Amino acid sequence: MTKYKVTKAVFPVAGLGTRFLPATKSIPKEIMTLVDRPLIQYAIDEARAAGITEFIFVTSRGKSALEDYFDHAPIIEAELKAKNKKDLLEVLKATDMESGAIAYVRQQKALGLGHAVWCARRLVGDEPFAVLLPDDVIAAEKPCLQQMVETYEETGGNMVAAMEVSPAKASSYGVLDIKDDMGTLVSVKGMVEKPKAEEAPSNLAVIGRYILSPTVLDNLNRMKQGAGGEIQLTDAIADEITAGNPVYGFRFRGQRYDCGSKAGFLQATVAFGLARSDLAEEFSDYLHHMIAQQKAAQ
Ligand code: G1P
Repeated sequence: MTKYKVTKAVFPVAGLGTRFLPATKSIPKEIMTLVDRPLIQYAIDEARAAGITEFIFVTSRGKSALEDYFDHAPIIEAELKAKNKKDLLEVLKATDMESGAIAYVRQQKALGLGHAVWCARRLVGDEPFAVLLPDDVIAAEKPCLQQMVETYEETGGNMVAAMEVSPAKASSYGVLDIKDDMGTLVSVKGMVEKPKAEEAPSNLAVIGRYILSPTVLDNLNRMKQGAGGEIQLTDAIADEITAGNPVYGFRFRGQRYDCGSKAGFLQATVAFGLARSDLAEEFSDYLHHMIAQQKAAQ
C-alpha cells in the first residue's frame, strides 16, 4: 500500500433538497433519477472506479430510502429469478454492497457541509479520504475521482476538483486563490467560500470531489462558522494552507452537471438520455421534433 492510497469516501447526503420540493418531501434528493439510475448510484460507481472500498454516508431524518436502495430486495429478486429476467437481475447488481462496506452516520443538525464531513470523523480515522457530493454529476471517459486519485498518488496533500466558471457564477462556489498554475494541476494559496463576485480571487471553482488529509477533520473540530453562518468544508481545507500543508486544484476532464439545480438536472437528463444506446435514437428524434415545433411557433 502506498502512502497515499485512498480507500474511504464520505458522501454527504443529509441536505433537505428544498430546491426540489415537493418531490423531496418524501424522497431523498439523491434518489432522484437521471434516466433510470439515482444520483447516488453515479457517485458510488465513480468512487468504486477510483478504488474506494468503504463508503460512508452522512444522512439525516427522512433518508432511509438510501439505506434500502443499497440493500438486497428479496421480493423483487425472487420475482425476477422466477421469470428468468437475467438482464434485470444484472442491472440490480450495481446496487450490491459487500456486507460492512457501507456505513451510515447521522448529521442531527444542518450546520453545513464541513460539519457533515466532520460527523464521519470516527469512521474515517487517521487516513486520507475522498468526499463526493452526489449533486455534482460528472460525465467523463475516465471517472473524475479516478483521475484525481491517480494524480494524488504522486502529490499527496489535499486535492479538490476545479472548473472555470463565469465571474458572475463564482459566488455560488468555493473559489481558489491560485499560487502556481501548472495546467491540469494548480497549487493553491487560499480558498474562499461563496465570495462576492468582485471579491473572487479567480474564476476557478471547487466542484464536489475532494481528496483530503485527515488533518482537515482536526481543523473542523474548531467549528468555525463561515459563509452563510455554516461550518464550511472550504474553510477547513484553507486552514491546511495556513498550516503549511499543500492544497491542489485539479482541472478534471469531463462535463459536470449541477444536479442540485433544476436546469442542471434537466441538462443532465438530456445528456445521459442521449448517451444511452437503448434510448438515443428515439430520444434524439423527439428532441429534434420538439425544437422544430418550437421554431415554427416563433
Ligand atoms: C458546495 C461547496 C462549494 C463547492 C460546491 C460545488 O456548495 O461548499 O465550495 O463549490 O459545493 O458544487 P453547495 O453547492 O453545497 O452550496
